[in-house]
Amino acid sequence: MTTPQPRIALTRSSDPDTDWAARSMPLLTSTMNRVGPAFSGLRVGICLHLEPKTAVLCRWLLEYGAKVTITGNLGTTNPRTADLLAAQGAQVIGSREDDLTAHAINLDAVIEARPELILDNGGELIQRLTEGAVRSATFRGATEETTTGGTRVRNLPVQPDFPVIVINDSPLKLLVENEYGVGQSIVQGFMNATNRMLPALRAVVIGFGPCGKGVADTLRALGARVTVVEINPFRALEALMGGHHVASVAESLPQAEALFLSTGRARALSLDEIRLLPDGAIIAGVGHQPDEADIAGLTAAAVETVNLATSSDIDARIAYHLESGKEIVVLHGTKMINLTAARGNPIEAMDLGLSLQAASLAAIALGDAAFQGVEPVPSDINDSLAAALVDILQ
Ligand SMILES: NC(=O)c1ccc[n+]([C@@H]2O[C@H](COP(=O)([O-])OP(=O)(O)OC[C@H]3O[C@@H](n4cnc5c(N)ncnc54)[C@H](O)[C@@H]3O)[C@@H](O)[C@H]2O)c1
Repeated sequence: MTTPQPRIALTRSSDPDTDWAARSMPLLTSTMNRVGPAFSGLRVGICLHLEPKTAVLCRWLLEYGAKVTITGNLGTTNPRTADLLAAQGAQVIGSREDDLTAHAINLDAVIEARPELILDNGGELIQRLTEGAVRSATFRGATEETTTGGTRVRNLPVQPDFPVIVINDSPLKLLVENEYGVGQSIVQGFMNATNRMLPALRAVVIGFGPCGKGVADTLRALGARVTVVEINPFRALEALMGGHHVASVAESLPQAEALFLSTGRARALSLDEIRLLPDGAIIAGVGHQPDEADIAGLTAAAVETVNLATSSDIDARIAYHLESGKEIVVLHGTKMINLTAARGNPIEAMDLGLSLQAASLAAIALGDAAFQGVEPVPSDINDSLAAALVDILQ
């Protein structure tokens, strides 16, 4: 492995997990040493999973003189990471326990800091700016990290009149993070939350995008019997040719011991479909949508709800008892199980994703982005980071 030589490195912090992540992020180190000066003195507003890897990017932004205001995505804020960034000078808003209402207030607070650059994960900050939220006179533009956020931003009634680079559109990100990174970390989260054995487990994955593919392939590699449900015929074919069983919701759910939601779509799984699951089935979330399954409907329909978790992790395993006598177990309210029950994506996957973020946001800061509106990552950024990653990994 050849590691690019940084001009400067991050000093040790009070959080060993952030320092551990930084050791395996050579691509971000070299990228920030190249583009970091573009952030000097700028206000950067961020909504991102607040955990050790993203903290490394925030530390680099602070190192190069940016003024950072950050809130986490719903349910994913790591308190130690939040404390570290606050101690290093970032304005950190919100906590892991925040519900949707509190999360909305947190996002408003990031906008009120009048950022000149926005780094978004879910599109909710960008949405606020298109809905007329007051912005800085020197506002330059935004990046958006994820699939769901890219879809949200492209479907806004009023399109952004400023540059937005959608990181998720990068084929490099889809391969390294969504497929390989999410595949490993979601399965790790499921194993941590359940301690169940994977060989012979009957697993159903709904949605065979890069994330669902990664999850299905990882489960199968570890011995699970995997069925894929996919409405796009090309992706269904890809699943089939990749060796998975492919079936409809109606055919697959009655056998599902574990169900993984990877559509990224709101209300992809109805209450009637949840009722098809066998007694004891477990539902885990992969996608970014908090209401991918109708958990509100399940809660209302349950004759009894039992918390199967320890008091320190209140919503980790909730059992819903239905009139039919079935018990359905939901992990972490279907929040992304790799963030809630594991340590998020593997460090190397985030090294790449956050390097794409840094290089794209710097292009916007410098006015290099020769466009207005929503665009994919410029090809020169994709190509140079892909080449650097090959050098690092081989
Ligand atoms: N947990 C994480 O760390 C993490 C990381 C990256 C992305 N994500 C999120 O994971 C989700 C999936 O990402 P992706 O890149 O694979 O998205 P994608 O949009 O490429 O794939 C989703 C797939 O689901 C299918 N689908 C949609 N509705 C369906 C339904 N009702 N039944 C069956 N199939 C259906 C679509 O046809 C598509 O193939 C998104 O919400 C994304 O934001 C999570």
